[in-house]
Amino acid sequence: MVSERERQLIEQAYAEIDKHKETVESDYYRLKYHLMPPVGLMNDPNGFIHWNGTYHVFYQWMPFKTGHGAKFWGHYTSSDLVNWKHEKIALAPSEWFEKNGCYSGSAVDNDGVLTLFYTGNVKDESGNRQTYQCMAVSENGVDFTKKGVVVELPGGYTAHFRDPKVWKKDDCWYMIVGAQSESLDGQAVLFRSKNLIDWEHLGAITGGNSKQLGYFGYMWECPDLFELDGQDVLMVCPQGLKAEGMLYNNVYQSGYFVGRLNYETAEFVHGPFTELDRGFEFYAPQTTLDAKGRRLLIAWMGVPDQDEDKHPTIAHKWIHALTLPRELKLMDGKLYQKPVEELQQLRKDEVMYSDVTIVNEEIALEGICGDVAELKIGQIRQSKGIFEMNIRNVARLIYDSHERIFTLERKSFVNQLTEKRQCYLEKLHSLHIFLDTSSIEVFINDGEEVFTARIFPYRENRLITFAANSQVLFNIAKWNL
Ligand code: FRU
Repeated sequence: MVSERERQLIEQAYAEIDKHKETVESDYYRLKYHLMPPVGLMNDPNGFIHWNGTYHVFYQWMPFKTGHGAKFWGHYTSSDLVNWKHEKIALAPSEWFEKNGCYSGSAVDNDGVLTLFYTGNVKDESGNRQTYQCMAVSENGVDFTKKGVVVELPGGYTAHFRDPKVWKKDDCWYMIVGAQSESLDGQAVLFRSKNLIDWEHLGAITGGNSKQLGYFGYMWECPDLFELDGQDVLMVCPQGLKAEGMLYNNVYQSGYFVGRLNYETAEFVHGPFTELDRGFEFYAPQTTLDAKGRRLLIAWMGVPDQDEDKHPTIAHKWIHALTLPRELKLMDGKLYQKPVEELQQLRKDEVMYSDVTIVNEEIALEGICGDVAELKIGQIRQSKGIFEMNIRNVARLIYDSHERIFTLERKSFVNQLTEKRQCYLEKLHSLHIFLDTSSIEVFINDGEEVFTARIFPYRENRLITFAANSQVLFNIAKWNL
């Protein structure tokens, strides 16, 4: 059932798509195999689920401008995580409890009913915020009926309380919410329910100023909690961390803690925070378990408030995209991310070389170039010096085997100056790179580290070069996608 207000909003959003279709689609920087908004702004992935054999990814969507505001939930489906269909709008911010945005949330299968939880964002005339955790249900997976508010703001927190992620454990449902305490610390807050409607507040499982963490940001957004390899992983997006050397260089962070959640006492005993991605644009990841038993992750290829008004694509009336879907593994307490294997379907025009040898020179390899491509570089043998790849004259990947530092450099889309992100890396064995017209995702050593970024190269420039100041050997395969 759709209210009159909702019907109007949905109609206006479709009109906006039609109005700007040509402008949007004529943009060279439209991605070829990533999820994007049809117009306007996309941010967090929401409601990621494998339901009745179909993958669903909803997303935060502002149809009317390339900035933030009263968000809708857009909706994509796929049978294989590669070919996606844009579905009808799932939620529009029409009711009093969500009038300033159907904010982020998640999806579960409740006995065959696709059930969404999201934050109803409300602001009054003087800008004061209210927050409600809301529910919507669907029998067919595309038409949603709103059930209204299921969780009101508990005492002890400010109205920065949002992004419910729901899962089932034994015979109870649990919800984790991103929060700001009244003392202005970011926290992750747990609720429990038997029926998805009545929720019991169990309290913060961890957060800033807890026993385990000192100050750790003033707000935590988009929490996700799941079991992997016998451990509990809490992913969160803390806001307000200061850069520390190579760490925390984006405006806001996205990372995880590994530990054990005691579901009775709501205590989460955990290790240190690790950033999920070392690149420039990565935020608000969400995971789901699919029918193959894989823990899959998809994230926003953007960061809130990070030069959003400077993206080249806003001239074409759209901004932002989602990352590739990735499979997670936990090894020695560390999350590894790999692009899902289904992406191999996209491969064409294979080019391969074995034992490429570079000695103190910069080279190009015939057929290893392009703008929408996958590159697999394996068996990297680099005993000393620096190995470097230059991609389309806009990004450079550099491994310094002496310092043991991996660097992604790019030309800033704000001022064309060089900027970099880095991480410590004991040894470089392999690189798996996905290039799209305006993005790069680099998976290092089978997903031990990942760098995700938007890049805006000249359309004509497809050149990829390799350089070493000592000797480097490797095997390489490349496909156009
Ligand atoms: C994260 C976020 C969420 C919020 C949503 C609004 O990017 O700020 O906390 O629910 O975006 O679009």
